[in-house]
Amino acid sequence: RGGPVIAVDGPAAAGKGTLARKLAEALHLPYLDTGLLYRAVGRLALDAGQDPASPAQEFASRLLPADLERPDLRIPVVAQAASKVAAQPEVRAALVETQRRFAQAKGAVLDGRDIGTAIFPDADVKLFITASPSTRALRRFLQLGGDRNAPDAPTRIAELEDSLRARDDADAGRASAPMLVADDAYVIETDMLEADAVLAKALQIVRERL
Ligand code: C5P
Repeated sequence: RGGPVIAVDGPAAAGKGTLARKLAEALHLPYLDTGLLYRAVGRLALDAGQDPASPAQEFASRLLPADLERPDLRIPVVAQAASKVAAQPEVRAALVETQRRFAQAKGAVLDGRDIGTAIFPDADVKLFITASPSTRALRRFLQLGGDRNAPDAPTRIAELEDSLRARDDADAGRASAPMLVADDAYVIETDMLEADAVLAKALQIVRERL
C-alpha cells in the first residue's frame, strides 16, 4: 500500500466521523466514511419501494459516486435502512473491494463498524471510539439541529437513544461482520472528552504506532 491505514470503528454517534475526518486532515491521508456506502444502498432500496430487509445486493453492486453525494443520507429512516441492508452478507461482500481500493494508492483513514476486524484486519492503527447511549443521543440531537431548551427536547432525545440502541444491537448482533472491538484496537471512551481531546489522544496513539 502507498501509505498507512487507520481504522476508526465504533457505534453510531460516538464521534468517529468527526475524529476520522480530523485525523485524515492532520495526517494528510484520504478519508472514507464507510457508513455512507450502506446509507446509500439503504436509500436506493427505499427509493425502489423495497423493504430494506429484503435482498439489496443489486443496489450495492451498482452504487455510483453520485449516490454518496445525496443530501438525504443522514436522516434516521435512512440510518435504519442502512443497518438492515448492512446485515446482508451479499451487500457487505459487494462493498469490500471499493473500501480496500480506496486505501490502495496513499493509505487512508476509514470509519465504520468492521474496518479493523473485516475490511483491514492488518490496519496500521485501529481505534474503537465509544460513548454511553445517552451521550450519543444528545450529540446526535444537537447535530440534527435540535434545541436543548425546547419543550419536546427530552422526548426527542429519548427517542433518539432508543433508535441508537436498536441499531447498536442489530449491528453488534448480526452474523456477518458484526461491530466488535478488534483484539488489537485502542478503545477511546469519549463521554468526558471534547472532540479536540479525542483528536489529541488519537494522534498520540497513531504517532506511537507509525
Ligand atoms: O456510521 P453510520 O451510522 O453512518 O452507519 C450506518 C449503518 O451502516 C450502521 O448502523 C451499520 O449498520 C452500517 N455500517 C456497517 N459497516 C460499516 C459502516 C456502517 O455495517 N463499516
